[in-house]
Amino acid sequence: MAPRRIDVRAVTKGRDSSVLRALYEYASPEASGPCTIEYDGRAIAAREGEPIAISLLAAGIDTLSRSVKFHRPRGPSCLRANCEGCLSRIDGEPNRMACTVPSRDGRVVRAQNAFPSAQVDFMRITDWFFPKQFDHHHLMVRYGTAINEAMQGFARKMAGLGTLPEQPSSALGPEEIDRDVLVVGLGPAGLSIAESLAKAGLSVLAVDEEPTAGGLVRDSLSLHALDAKLVCGPAYGDALLARARAAGVDVRLGASACATFDDGTIVISGERALWVRAKARVFANGCHESIAPFGDNDMPGVYTARAAARALRYGVRVGDAVLVCGTDADDDALCDALSAAGARVERLSAGQTLVEATGLGSVTGAVVRGASETHKIKCDAIVPVTVRTPAFELAGQAGVEAARDGARRCFAVRADESGRTERRDVFAAGSVALGGRSSARELAVVQAVVAFVGRGGAA
Ligand code: FES
Repeated sequence: MAPRRIDVRAVTKGRDSSVLRALYEYASPEASGPCTIEYDGRAIAAREGEPIAISLLAAGIDTLSRSVKFHRPRGPSCLRANCEGCLSRIDGEPNRMACTVPSRDGRVVRAQNAFPSAQVDFMRITDWFFPKQFDHHHLMVRYGTAINEAMQGFARKMAGLGTLPEQPSSALGPEEIDRDVLVVGLGPAGLSIAESLAKAGLSVLAVDEEPTAGGLVRDSLSLHALDAKLVCGPAYGDALLARARAAGVDVRLGASACATFDDGTIVISGERALWVRAKARVFANGCHESIAPFGDNDMPGVYTARAAARALRYGVRVGDAVLVCGTDADDDALCDALSAAGARVERLSAGQTLVEATGLGSVTGAVVRGASETHKIKCDAIVPVTVRTPAFELAGQAGVEAARDGARRCFAVRADESGRTERRDVFAAGSVALGGRSSARELAVVQAVVAFVGRGGAA
């Protein structure tokens, strides 16, 4: 795979190349100086601060590890901590998501669960040997104790996720935090609600699992109106974040709310757990992104549309020949930006279906079925239709049911127009809630939360 770093300033063609330049200015070489990371013994030129997965992609490396059981190749697909395709050993610590760890001079990255390398792994034979899967629980106990033990020892060596860290992690106790409101999710809905609640005099802790704020808008290739200016997604997200901070919101980025109970919520922030007690919880944690089903859709070289747009933000194209399968306006903008970035772009036309990705290690083509025939397309990256499903699980832990959202054809958190749910202290806003996002609803959520906390919360 050839290097994929692009010089966006030199881009002049393309309907949306102004957006591309705006995105690139956000993470330009001047803003982030050069650095060198080590990947499996090779020195890789990177830019300080960009995610390691992006640095490796820019250097032409898209296969980072192997799957636990069948050693199928794995590579970044979402670029936002959603798919686990980029799990790597970084600075001696196993299972770190390379899409969330920034490149810094001297960082050492190793592929894991592969021998001798992620690109050429002898244990891939397991995948070819058992094309119809195998049930390891029964296969290994069938032939007596001695063989069973030998098989278990072998499996323990060949499967799993990396080896133990070089250093024991520091055993920090949880940080206990009391606030009026906990807001989970810092897309536009969460940020504006957190800002308004703080302006109303409430103490607000706002968390998001990503190291940056802005949610889906951050990766959008459209320009957004802000203070009479048109800005690209990252600048829009950062401006909303700055406003929330200026209003007094305690913002924690890279902080994942992973469990919520009646008496508190556990948030993992770096090496530390936070135990957050809040009178009200507002879930604005958006959607999961998954990829529509087709053969070998787990192969390196398959990206969500959001990941392809995010890579462009760092001046990197996901492929030289990209097959884009979506058909909405965002996909139009992505195609324009990719071709402005020098990629050859193909699109599925109406009536065509993506059947499978082809390639041994990573994508080298795709099989597409039309009305009357099936044909092959040569490409080194595929951006299939991305399916967005509301992330209702956390609200579910709090005891709130999901309900069918007919208009969006998905399940979402059951909430009324003011974000109220069946749990009095739990509110839902943005795309995770039934009916989706609207500014009228955000205002109503703020009023409902202020009234609830003003009445003394759960009491
Ligand atoms: S989790 Fe890192 S690319 Fe998906």
